[in-house]
Amino acid sequence: MDIFEALLQSHQRQRAICQRLLDGIGDHDERRKAFDDLKTEMAAHETAEERAFYVPLIEHDETVDPARHGISEHHEMDEMVEDVEKCEAGSAEWLEGMGKLVHKVHHHLDEEEQKFFPQAKKVLPKEQQQELGALYQSEHDRLFEKEEQAH
Ligand SMILES: [Fe+2]
Ligand SMILES: [Fe+2]
Repeated sequence: MDIFEALLQSHQRQRAICQRLLDGIGDHDERRKAFDDLKTEMAAHETAEERAFYVPLIEHDETVDPARHGISEHHEMDEMVEDVEKCEAGSAEWLEGMGKLVHKVHHHLDEEEQKFFPQAKKVLPKEQQQELGALYQSEHDRLFEKEEQAH
């Protein structure tokens, strides 16, 4: 699996969890579980993606700006997750924060796939695309397990 297929798989997982979150918004247990799942997947994905995708892209003049932009959006989303956690689950504030987070996540994933992937395909040699796919997978799985244990 190359880096683009590996990232896309994680993105689809995040989209599915966001959908569960929206569907289960009126159900206390379901929305808490979906929120925890989103947090775990996002945390593992962001760090693994920074190491296996954005760091190599920083090395190329053509992709340094998109890489910086992507990483700064990860920080923004982390802060949004923290803000949601400060609110009482199910309150109006919580719902508003959750809506903003889901919107931002979708924007971020779409931008990566539609804008950054095509740019990255031009600068990363095919062989490196495969190596980075393997690096992403192992980092993602390791970090995911660590996150889960922390809960
Ligand atoms: Fe990202
Ligand atoms: Fe991503």
